[in-house]
Amino acid sequence: MRKKIIAGNWKMNKTIEEAVELAAAIKRDLADCKAVDVVLCPPFTAIKSVSDVVSETLINVGAQNMSSEEEGAYTGEISHNMLKELFVRYVILGHSERREYYKENDYWINRKVLKALEKKLRPILCVGEKLEQREAGETEKVVEVQIREGLKGVPAEAYADVVIAYEPVWAIGTGKTATAEQAQEVHAFIRGLVREMVGDQAAQTVRIQYGGSMKPGNAPELLAQPDIDGGLIGGAALEASSFVGIVKAAL
Ligand code: PGA
Repeated sequence: MRKKIIAGNWKMNKTIEEAVELAAAIKRDLADCKAVDVVLCPPFTAIKSVSDVVSETLINVGAQNMSSEEEGAYTGEISHNMLKELFVRYVILGHSERREYYKENDYWINRKVLKALEKKLRPILCVGEKLEQREAGETEKVVEVQIREGLKGVPAEAYADVVIAYEPVWAIGTGKTATAEQAQEVHAFIRGLVREMVGDQAAQTVRIQYGGSMKPGNAPELLAQPDIDGGLIGGAALEASSFVGIVKAAL
C-alpha cells in the first residue's frame, strides 16, 4: 500500500510572520498525522521559521526549487546543503510555473532530480500538459517526454523516494479541476510508463500526486482513484482549514 502524500505549495506567498502563523495552525490539527505524509513548502525565506514550528511533529518541510549544482558562482541559487541544513526533506522540481516563466527544461530538471536523490532529498517532479495540448490529443505524448527525460538515469530502487505530481496546467489556479476520471487516466498512464521504464516494483511504489485546484470538496473523489496517491496543493494550501480538510480526505 502506498502512503498518501499531501504537499502544500505556498508559491511566492507568506512573509515569515504569516508563514509561522499558517504552519502553527496546521500543526494544531496535523502534528501527529501518521497515516498521510504531510509536507509544507514555504518560500525559501520562511523555511527556517516553518521548520522550527514543525520540529518534533510528523509534518515535513519541502522547498519549491533547488540548484542542480553543488556550490559556487550561481547567483540567486540555493543548494541541497542549504536546504538540508534547514531540515528540508522534499523538493518540488519542474513546476509548470518554473517551466513556463523561467524556461526550465527537462535537461535541467533531470539534473536537479538526480542531485536531489543523490543527496537524500525526495524530489516531487511536476509534469502536465497545457490546454491546447490536451485539446490536440497530446496529453500522453507531453507527459511521456517529461517523465522519460525528467527521470532519466534514476535507478529502479530510487523510485520509493520519488514523487511525481501530475498537474494539468489548465487546472492550476484556475478553479478548473480535472475530473477524477481524467486524472485517473493520466495517473494510470504514468504508472504504466514507469513500469515500462524500470519495472513493476518501482511502478507499484512510486507515488503520483494530482495537482490543480484540489480543494476539500473535490479531494475525496480524486483521492479515491486507485492511482492517485495524494495532492500537490496551491491555493487551498494557504488556508489552514482547507489544507487540513484535504489531508483529512486522504486519511
Ligand atoms: P492550485 O496549484 O492548487 O492553486 O491549482 C497547484 C500547484 O500549482 O501546485
